[in-house]
Amino acid sequence: MRTLRDGFRAVVIGASGGIGAAVVAALESDGRAGAVIGLSRSVDGLEVTDESAVKDAAQRLKEQGPLDLVFDATGALIIDGAGPEKTVKALDPAVMMKQFALNAIGPALIIKHFSPLLPRDRRAVLATLSARVGSISDNRLGGWISYRASKAALNQIVRTAAVEIARTHPQAVLATLHPGTVDTALSSGYTVNHAKLSPAEAARHLLLALDGVSAAESGAFVAYDGERIGY
Ligand SMILES: NC(=O)c1ccc[n+]([C@@H]2O[C@H](COP(=O)([O-])OP(=O)(O)OC[C@H]3O[C@@H](n4cnc5c(N)ncnc54)[C@H](OP(=O)(O)O)[C@@H]3O)[C@@H](O)[C@H]2O)c1
Repeated sequence: MRTLRDGFRAVVIGASGGIGAAVVAALESDGRAGAVIGLSRSVDGLEVTDESAVKDAAQRLKEQGPLDLVFDATGALIIDGAGPEKTVKALDPAVMMKQFALNAIGPALIIKHFSPLLPRDRRAVLATLSARVGSISDNRLGGWISYRASKAALNQIVRTAAVEIARTHPQAVLATLHPGTVDTALSSGYTVNHAKLSPAEAARHLLLALDGVSAAESGAFVAYDGERIGY
């Protein structure tokens, strides 16, 4: 990992969120980044489902030089008051579309507009927060069909982009991350019987886990503890 002295530059998108804010703090406190730029919808107007907003944000950062880390911490389980469905009978196409727009297409737009900012001549990382429930091979419980499916789509988007980006950026690492069950606004009310990580613990683990992903594995689905999760 390049150090502060080397001018390591990172951007965290979704820096207003529980995990995003903790990733910014972790990067700042361990001296890893010369510059950590936090961007969010509520503070900077970066609505990730709006391509022009994503494109403009990338364009502004491009003028300041390449990025060693792009960390996307956006996403939601409840959108406009609609939470995860317990059964197929509860499916609502409008709700499903919003889940895909935010949890799959938003990160796809981030990859589209921010991957050109990764340097071609050294290691760089573009990571986005998925969720273990997006794993098809790990699905034993059912339920939450829109959220699960949007995260499964996200995993495929990252894997597909990784194959392509490896041709121009052979040292780049793309990854989807499962952060664990983390004590944030997103998880409140859904995780009563789960042990939770604090956002600070999750952020520290996620950055360490990313350090352990090689370019040969680009596109992998990685848990906070380093486990490789099956798609
Ligand atoms: N917490 C968990 O236990 C857990 C478990 C598995 C996976 N995850 C994943 O981790 C990610 C972050 O979750 P969190 O727990 O940190 O949630 P959080 O505290 O609710 O933060 C969500 C972040 O997403 C941003 N966001 C939401 N909609 C957006 C939009 N349309 N455009 C731009 N930004 C948007 C929010 O921005 P504003 O507040 O600025 O609007 C906020 O920064 C999500 O993808 C989630 O699926 C979390």
